[in-house]
Amino acid sequence: MRVQGSVAFVTGGNRGFGLAMAEELGARDAAKVYVGVREPAAFDHPGITPIALDVTSDESVAAAAEQCADVTLLVNNAGTGGAHPGGALDPELVRAAQRVVDVNLYGLIRTSQALAPTILRNGGGAIVNVVSDEAWYALPVIAAYSMSKSAAWSYTNALRMDLRPQGVEVLSLHVGFMDTDLVRDLDVPKVDPHEVASTTLDGLEQGKEEVIADEQSRRVKRTLSTDDGYYLHPSVLG
Ligand SMILES: NC(=O)c1ccc[n+]([C@@H]2O[C@H](COP(=O)([O-])OP(=O)(O)OC[C@H]3O[C@@H](n4cnc5c(N)ncnc54)[C@H](OP(=O)(O)O)[C@@H]3O)[C@@H](O)[C@H]2O)c1
Repeated sequence: MRVQGSVAFVTGGNRGFGLAMAEELGARDAAKVYVGVREPAAFDHPGITPIALDVTSDESVAAAAEQCADVTLLVNNAGTGGAHPGGALDPELVRAAQRVVDVNLYGLIRTSQALAPTILRNGGGAIVNVVSDEAWYALPVIAAYSMSKSAAWSYTNALRMDLRPQGVEVLSLHVGFMDTDLVRDLDVPKVDPHEVASTTLDGLEQGKEEVIADEQSRRVKRTLSTDDGYYLHPSVLG
C-alpha cells in the first residue's frame, strides 16, 4: 500500500511508538493522520488530529470510528504492560492479564472490527498491528504482557486471512525493546522507535505482511523451529 495520500489512524498516538509512527506517516505525505488518544485536549502536534479513544470501551471505539469515515490505514499501537513479581505463579496474574489483554488484544480487536468496514468502504488499504517479539517467547515477570502479544499475533493471522481477499493488507510488526516509556525502567539495549516506524512503513509499501524490525526479534523467530528455541531459554534480562 502507498502511504502517500492515505488517511491513517494510529491508536495510542500521543507518545512513544504511536507518536513516532504518526510523525513518520506525516513525513511520508499521508493525506491525514488521526491519533486515537485518551486525552485529546492535551495533544498539540501540528498536522496530526487527535480523536478521543479508549480502546477498552466499545462506545469510545464506535464514536472514534464514526468521526473518521475516511480512514484507509489503521495502526493498532495502543498497548500496556506491567510486571507481576511472582511470575507465572503470581496470585495476581489473572487480574493483571485481564487488564493487559483488554488493551493489547481486545482493544486491537475492537478497533479492527470498527475500522475494517471503513477501510473496505474506502476501497481497501491496510491494518498494521504492533505486536512484539514477545509473541514468540515469554518472560515470567511480564507473562501477562507476553500472553497478550501471542494472542494478538494469533488474531492478526486470522484477520489477515479474512481481509486479504478483500484488498486489505494486514501487517504484523515484531520488535524487541524500543526506547519508550513502556520499558524506561529496563536497562537493556533499545532501538529507536522512529527507525522502527520507518522500517515498518517501508515494509508496508513493499507489500510485506510481517515486519521483523530488529536483530533480537529476528533471532527469536529464527529459533522457533530449532531444538534450542529462544522461548526455551530466553536470556534478554540476564
Ligand atoms: N517499547 C517497547 O519495547 C515495545 C516493544 C515491542 C512492542 N511494543 C508495543 O508498541 C506499542 C506502543 O508501546 P510504547 O512502547 O510506545 O509504549 P508507551 O510509550 O507506554 O505508549 C503506550 C500508548 O498506548 C496508549 N494506551 C494505553 N492504554 C490505552 C487505552 N486503553 N486506550 C487508548 N490508548 C491507550 C497510551 O496512552 P496514554 O498516554 O493515555 O497512557 C500510549 O499512547 C504497544 O503495543 C507495545 O506493546 C513496545
